[in-house]
Amino acid sequence: MRATADPESRRTIGVLTSGGDSPGMNAAVRAVARRAIFKQCRVIGFNWGFRGLMEGDVIALESRTVGGVLDRGGTFLGTSRSKEFATAAGQRRAVATLDRFGVQGLVVIGGDGSLAGGHALVEQGVQVVGVPATIDNDVGGTDVSIGFDTALNTVLDAIFRIRDTASALERVFVVEVMGRTSGQLALAAAVAGGADIVVIPEIPWDHVGAARDALAGHRNGKMHTIAVVAEGAASGEEVARLLSAHMPGMDVKVSVLGHLQRGGRPTGVDRLAASRLGAKAVDLLLDGMTDVMVGMDGPNLQTVSLTYAASQKSAINPELYQLCRVLAL
Ligand code: F6P
Repeated sequence: MRATADPESRRTIGVLTSGGDSPGMNAAVRAVARRAIFKQCRVIGFNWGFRGLMEGDVIALESRTVGGVLDRGGTFLGTSRSKEFATAAGQRRAVATLDRFGVQGLVVIGGDGSLAGGHALVEQGVQVVGVPATIDNDVGGTDVSIGFDTALNTVLDAIFRIRDTASALERVFVVEVMGRTSGQLALAAAVAGGADIVVIPEIPWDHVGAARDALAGHRNGKMHTIAVVAEGAASGEEVARLLSAHMPGMDVKVSVLGHLQRGGRPTGVDRLAASRLGAKAVDLLLDGMTDVMVGMDGPNLQTVSLTYAASQKSAINPELYQLCRVLAL
């Protein structure tokens, strides 16, 4: 169903999902749509993120359109990583679409690149509120991004399966997880998964010391070594080579989890966050706010500028990093 200019001149809110998909994006779109409808607004979704925004690929969102999506992974609107949108010409096309459909406020759901895209539209005079959604959990100004909890649980499930087989043969396993520029997922998974070694882009890694400690663990009765590595720090293969060289006699295997980390049914934690953040984004738009992202600060919601959210990566907690080592003893 294609949206058309609103005959009753009700306020029109637009929503899109952008960048890498993350579980819970659908719950966020649902919350945006239903909150806006509750507030007597008309809602349209842009398919395929900023690409659909440029191309005018829209879908009218009614209460029933967003029914049944709450627990579905991926994003029913589709998403993209659009190179054209990064250009001035692409952004002009996007603004022209918004004008054509009479959209007065836009909710952008995505990670740092998508939030930066939202800010670019603000500079073209568009009212934008962002919602953080990325399994990387590296967006500034929020404790959690939508999708992180689900991805973390997926990685933990994999780690515990791998630990079973690792123990059965007394092997070393390197588990490579996503995180092109961020070690948040790897670190959380390492601590909650009882890994012995964690390798992340933010902190230099002493592979000789790590191998020595792991060998000592085996001499002390440990039946497995699990190393979790964020793809942005090194490949699983590289880490395996380094460990192998310093762990003579040990069989070192690699498991690359890849895109399975991005899919699946969002956890209750992610659905709850997505519902709150999506609804709040609409409230902020209706209050006249723009150029902000709504994020989580503990149990509370907070707003930060889109520029801050997009540029200030959430910091790695050094205590968590130390804890991983201590708890692996
Ligand atoms: O930004 C989220 C993320 O999942 C990164 O962790 C990962 O490196 C990247 O997306 C993969 O992107 P794509 O699916 O485009 O290959």
